[in-house]
Amino acid sequence: MIKNSCKEPLADFAKRKAEHIQIALEDKHQTTGLSGLDRIKLIHEALPDINLAEICIKTQSLNLELPSPFLVSSMTAGHKQGEKINYAIAKACEQTGWLMGIGSQRRQLYDNEAILEWIELRKNFPKVKLIGNIGIAQLITSSHEEIEKILAPIQAEAIFVHSNPLQECIQPAGTTEYKGSLSALTHLCKNLNVPVILKETGCGFSKNTLLRLNDIGLYAVDISGLGGTHWGRIEGTRAKNHPLQQKASKVFEDWGISTIDSILNTHALDLKYEIWGSGGIRSGLDAAKLIALGSKIIGFAKPILQAATQSSGAIIEYMRQIEFELKIALFCTGHGNIKSLQENKSWE
Ligand SMILES: Cc1cc2nc3c(=O)[nH]c(=O)nc-3n(C[C@H](O)[C@H](O)[C@H](O)COP(=O)(O)O)c2cc1C
Repeated sequence: MIKNSCKEPLADFAKRKAEHIQIALEDKHQTTGLSGLDRIKLIHEALPDINLAEICIKTQSLNLELPSPFLVSSMTAGHKQGEKINYAIAKACEQTGWLMGIGSQRRQLYDNEAILEWIELRKNFPKVKLIGNIGIAQLITSSHEEIEKILAPIQAEAIFVHSNPLQECIQPAGTTEYKGSLSALTHLCKNLNVPVILKETGCGFSKNTLLRLNDIGLYAVDISGLGGTHWGRIEGTRAKNHPLQQKASKVFEDWGISTIDSILNTHALDLKYEIWGSGGIRSGLDAAKLIALGSKIIGFAKPILQAATQSSGAIIEYMRQIEFELKIALFCTGHGNIKSLQENKSWE
């Protein structure tokens, strides 16, 4: 069955995805300085009672023992250029043990050939831990069996459902049919055979939204706050021949709840799901701050994309840098592991 929201011809789809990749790499589409990360300081410990070499950054999530709390945030899928990028990312993730979110699997809902990308990826990288992805607007018009079907070829550990209302408004022909989003999500959580994680794409979460999600059976919320890649800006650049959307993108160019405000929004609430942190995370120290504030897993999108345009080796180098910086942050706050950083308040 072809969904109304999925009728886009393949050539248009591939063009849009290629533009996203290219435009996302330009600095003007980053909301640099707005993440709020500079407001948070980790407290220096002048006399750590540990050895740097013994610092452990292992963690557990999704019933997995993970070598680090890191994730490549969902980016791309379903087109030739994306295949190459995903191949490089999967190679790096298999080697480092980082989780890998794949981009929206929307195309799989209406094109049987889209599965080939994953068969190839899985053949080459059988051990990489993949997380599927679908937009909330597509979820509303799909059954949980259809979602299970798109997850099967990637052998997904979980699925990200992304919600990106601003992007859909600014994107010419964006999908803005969001009515029924909470009940679609609730139904998915009840019926899907893998954990469900709701994520933003760079505009964060308010207290009210976090609370509305508390009883629906989500495994986690990835806050993906303001401070990094901004989809209102990206779609504004793409909307060259659409003055309505282009002008609106200027008005909304700093729209969103910052990554730090989103994380702080979780604090007063007794939430039943894990909090994952992303949106403008650009160093291991940024990651350490989010971990100290309660994030279980930390996601990076744009910097990984940047490295992926070079090679899987460049991605691995970036990942090792991030891991090293997290270890320094643990050492210099006097903590031997992530649990200790989270259980003893080390930030101000
Ligand atoms: C090129 C590109 C494509 C993206 N596509 C998706 C997507 O298909 N699904 C999704 O949930 N998020 C998508 N995102 C959003 C990221 O997962 C992430 O939430 C956002 O970019 C903020 O992280 P960053 O500041 O580290 O880039 C995309 C990001 C980039 C850069």
